[in-house]
Amino acid sequence: MAKATIQGIELAYTDQGKGTPILLIHGFPLNRSMWDPQVEALSRDCRMIAVDLRGHGESETPLWRYSMDIFADDLSSLLNHLSIDRAVIAGFSMGGYVAFAFYRRHRARVQGLILVDTRPQPDSPEGQQGRFKMAQTARKEGAHPIAETMLPKLLSEKTRQGRTDTVDRVRTMITRTDRIGIAGDLMAMADRPDSVPTLDEIKCPTLVIVGEQDGLTPPADAKLMADRIEGAKLVTIPDAAHLTPLEQPEAVNRAIKDFLKSLR
Ligand code: MLT
Repeated sequence: MAKATIQGIELAYTDQGKGTPILLIHGFPLNRSMWDPQVEALSRDCRMIAVDLRGHGESETPLWRYSMDIFADDLSSLLNHLSIDRAVIAGFSMGGYVAFAFYRRHRARVQGLILVDTRPQPDSPEGQQGRFKMAQTARKEGAHPIAETMLPKLLSEKTRQGRTDTVDRVRTMITRTDRIGIAGDLMAMADRPDSVPTLDEIKCPTLVIVGEQDGLTPPADAKLMADRIEGAKLVTIPDAAHLTPLEQPEAVNRAIKDFLKSLR
């Protein structure tokens, strides 16, 4: 693990392997360890950079503003710090929302996009209300009830019944997240702009991955992204809900490897 002061905030990241740089952006309310299976398997051929966004994991948690644009600018500054001009940007769920912001603000740096279990639409008014309620729960009761709400959304029934190690791992990731980081994400997600118009602007190689049973960002959203982004490839992962990189790591790694081959 390494740390760097980026835009005045200390960010923690993993930088492993050599080759094409792939910047991995985690989802809500997780941290960079959700990408461990990808870092492990793909760092033999690529430079895998997994970062804890501000407010998460081992990064600093400022009591100040959070937004997709701020997250994206943190990542662009981290690439400067690492002397990397261009990278493949891979975002899971909220990380995908950050990837869209990154594309809008720093597109010259994007060698390719990997959009994993995410969606381009903004929150509905009901969705925003749900974010508000969840932030109040986090403030009053901390991260534990957030973990119990999120687990059935992140992992399929089969995984929750049969893979206690995976369930415990995800629960620990969430319960270790500072409530300020949780509320920061929720406010940032509630305020995020519509990225549907961005889909028509994306002109880099793009891979879209979705779990067959993803109820949070369903396969229909993945299809919308793959249909609207020129030349995008869609891979649907069987036996997985939302958190496909941890639920079905081999299938996700295979999809990413095939995509990277097509870049060379
Ligand atoms: C995520 O998995 O990052 C979030 O749950 C996505 C969302 O709530 O919109």
